Amino acid sequence: MQDYVNDKVQDEAKQGEAFAPFAYDPNNYKKKFYIESYGCQMNFADSEIVASILNENGFGATRNFEEADLILLNTCSIREKAEQTVRNRLTTFKQIKNEKPGMLIGVLGCMAERLKSKFLEEEKLVDMVVGPDAYRTLPGLIEEAETGQKAVNVLLSREETYADISPIRLDSNGVTAFVSIMRGCNNMCSFCVVPFTRGRERSRDAVSIIKECTDLFNNGYKEVTLLGQNVDSYYFVDEVNDETVTFAMLLEKTAMISPQLRVRFSTSHPKDITDEVLHTMARYENICKYIHLPVQSGSSRILQLMNRTYTREWYMAKVNRIREIMPDCGLSSDIISGFCTETEEDHADTLSMMEFAKYDYSYMFFYSERPGTLAERRYKDDIPEPVKKKRLREIVEMQNRLSKESYSKDIGNTYKVLIEGNSKKSDKDWMGRNSQNKVLVFAKENYGYKKGDYVMVKVNAATQGTLLGTIIN
Ligand code: SAH
Ligand code: SF4
Ligand code: F3S
Repeated sequence: MQDYVNDKVQDEAKQGEAFAPFAYDPNNYKKKFYIESYGCQMNFADSEIVASILNENGFGATRNFEEADLILLNTCSIREKAEQTVRNRLTTFKQIKNEKPGMLIGVLGCMAERLKSKFLEEEKLVDMVVGPDAYRTLPGLIEEAETGQKAVNVLLSREETYADISPIRLDSNGVTAFVSIMRGCNNMCSFCVVPFTRGRERSRDAVSIIKECTDLFNNGYKEVTLLGQNVDSYYFVDEVNDETVTFAMLLEKTAMISPQLRVRFSTSHPKDITDEVLHTMARYENICKYIHLPVQSGSSRILQLMNRTYTREWYMAKVNRIREIMPDCGLSSDIISGFCTETEEDHADTLSMMEFAKYDYSYMFFYSERPGTLAERRYKDDIPEPVKKKRLREIVEMQNRLSKESYSKDIGNTYKVLIEGNSKKSDKDWMGRNSQNKVLVFAKENYGYKKGDYVMVKVNAATQGTLLGTIIN
């Protein structure tokens, strides 16, 4: 679903990529919808749930928004720029709507939740505003909007997990899939808007997760990524099987579906990832040896202001523990520059933390104050933008060096790679990932492998974000 770009600053995490499902059998459906997603993987996964709900209600997907009866934007509020992207996109759709008056425009996701009906005042062309826990009510809201009323549902729920809805995987490579295991977030990182846009944390029924993953495997998929804002706090009391399922147990259950099914997960919070999880990862070859462990800052003082609830030393001990239990584990991070009161010394702590952790890659951002967050209420956004950006550049430079080191160290090694499809540049080459989540590109030659096969690849060269190799038979 996303390419890891580690040589560029990502101002918007995994954003800007439009998700527009294939048009399939349009004749089966009375109407057509077009959906674009922004933000994190959870939003992309939600769009697949929305697609499923709409299919059941007579809407078929189209990739061409000009022929759509309904345009949906699944939005993100994480940084100001993310919201700006959506506003710009809406002006494009405004022109289309002018030419096609019956067409409806709906805003879904985090920005809908944050702005609620204010959205309708700000963006007059929007007909529907639907928060992340209200997608089941979409069909009713569409009917309401069709009568010319503005339709809004932004109620957050303590229970909704969409557990029983089978997502429609329309834009997939048929090999890798994302599976939501929980929703919401109970952490109150002071910079973060997610607890407000996604509501309380709740875990999805383990049985339904395992069923979804098994179905995927039976349909030819070879890799699932278990998704949540904080997967380590997954906790489900399964009354039917009289069992309390922790994240480590869920990982194990997923890994046991088949040794041929790879398991990944995202995101881990450094305070919550347990030894039990690490040992489970080590025990199963098919649980990928890769952890996204966002540090945010290397300064204990800033971490405290961020309400991350760990210190620099605690984080370092976690990294050591990971390396002890899985010496070959890949590691990546999210980093914010210029948080409130950050000094040059705090910034230097972030750089030295990066060196310590030797991240394979990172998503790097400068701090963007979000309305309603703890930081907005408590602290002054006092670091001037040029300083934030200068520090961000230094962070990016550091990461570039670390990535280069990490990728060149792999030269000469042989990895088991899951083929995901053709390489972007040439259909004579395959693209796939190793367990550590690094992308490998290698010539197909005449081996007759296909998408979804595992293949051993020896690395001959490395660019900053890709390993180049050859198949070893
Ligand atoms: N749940 C995940 C992160 C979700 S948001 C976690 O806890 O790690 C993805 C990343 O966006 C965060 O890790 C953080 O680095 C960044 N981010 C969140 N709020 C931000 C803000 N206000 N300004 C800049 N970056 C932010
Ligand atoms: Fe935001 Fe923190 Fe929750 Fe991640 S853990 S979603 S950064 S509040
Ligand atoms: Fe954005 Fe919402 Fe995800 S704010 S990062 S889409 S949870």
